[in-house]
Amino acid sequence: MGEIGLSVKQAPGPRGMEVLRTFRAMGRADPMQFWRDMHAVHGDTISLKLGPLAIWFFASPEAIYEVFVTQNRIMRKGLAYSGLRKLLGDGLITNDRENWTTQRQRLNPVFSPGAINNYAGSVHDACEAGMAELKALAESGKPVDFGHAMTRLTMRIISLAAFGIDLTRGHDEIVDAFEYAFAFIADITADPVRPPLFVPTRENRKFKHALAVIDGFLDELIDQSRSQSKPGGMSGTIFSALEGNDRKMLRDEVITLYFAGFETTARTMTFLMHQLPEHPQVLEQLRKEAAGLSRPGGRDSVANLLPAATEVVNEALRLYPPVAMMARQPNEDCVIDGYPVKANSLVIVCPFLAQRNEAWWPAGEAFAPSPETPLSGRLLHRGAFAPFGAGARMCLGKHFAMVEMALAIAMIARDFDWRLEDPSPMELEFHGTLRPARPVIGHLSVR
Ligand code: HEM
Repeated sequence: MGEIGLSVKQAPGPRGMEVLRTFRAMGRADPMQFWRDMHAVHGDTISLKLGPLAIWFFASPEAIYEVFVTQNRIMRKGLAYSGLRKLLGDGLITNDRENWTTQRQRLNPVFSPGAINNYAGSVHDACEAGMAELKALAESGKPVDFGHAMTRLTMRIISLAAFGIDLTRGHDEIVDAFEYAFAFIADITADPVRPPLFVPTRENRKFKHALAVIDGFLDELIDQSRSQSKPGGMSGTIFSALEGNDRKMLRDEVITLYFAGFETTARTMTFLMHQLPEHPQVLEQLRKEAAGLSRPGGRDSVANLLPAATEVVNEALRLYPPVAMMARQPNEDCVIDGYPVKANSLVIVCPFLAQRNEAWWPAGEAFAPSPETPLSGRLLHRGAFAPFGAGARMCLGKHFAMVEMALAIAMIARDFDWRLEDPSPMELEFHGTLRPARPVIGHLSVR
């Protein structure tokens, strides 16, 4: 790209006095709400200047596709990922260095659709272990925080299915450490003028403690998982793929797979726990389908075995994509969707808004899983559904996540009844990932 022709469009966005009001709102509002409000006024493309930093926000499928696919070569993850690097180091998600390509090529075969199909039996067993834990929770008769329960569930699944380690006890401290560390990172990303990590504020000390707990856990996980891995099992293939990495790089890749493996899936599962009681027909359909569920392992993919469950997961990802917004910085001047974008601008793309746009999605803001959605193969534009990103940096764990979530929601529908304490429409916030603004509390009972 580089050359900016005469046909580029005028940048839309707040001007004059509105700029001041915008920055006040930016500091106060939740980031998702801020961009939703701006989008309601200015539409799919917004440009702002924050001191020397030019910010571009794009919510059209065309622009999303350009940023992720056609112009990926000149895009780096850049400053928006600097907070996350404090937790994930230089693992695949945050890596802007030259070795990204090699690392990705090594791991691609482990996460290909065919490979994940082979591991589907282990994912199924890990989900069943999670169901046993949920049953104990239901039988305790206490109200359930579904956000927390889904985090425990997805953490247990990734530990067991991908690393062969069952987190039966001592699990809470790890969940809490990850939750604190990720919330801290979301806060520093939203407010970069906070004191740097070497200043011993209470928050910084707590973050360092959480990081020490996580690193201790990872050390054990890596050693145990490596020594116990079975030939042909998923953990064995992950560690063979990462053979030759030094300990720091190994730690960064493993924490990336681990963290990416449970955080986003926990969010999606929580949205489903919130939505399904409001949609009894959908739940009934899931139950019918799940009644015949047996351990997958043959040639049939989980998407074929559980089409209704796959559909509801896709619909949750459409309405509530956990990675609702993503950022890039172009290395050179470029044109995105006809707008002139300078090198090093902060470019934000927003699948959340694209996936609710009625021009592409007739159901708009309503939860309406249906085989007739464009997801059934008639997708009109590849940028119109991007919960896993797109192009070269698309989610490595997409197939694993789809298998895991379809199996988990089918089993929950099969094994449990549940109701929410507050079934009113969910308010959302973006705190590193998209999540319900208030805890989703309910009552779970065994069917
Ligand atoms: C609901 C489930 C999930 C969602 C919505 C999701 C979403 C995403 C998105 C949007 C990206 C791209 C980020 C960007 O371009 O800035 C990404 C990257 C990534 N995801 Fe996922 N993810 C999910 C589950 C998983 C799982 C289960 C794993 C691993 C087991 C995983 C591993 C990764 C990795 C390693 C990357 C970095 C890819 C690269 O840059 O090479 N994800 N994910």
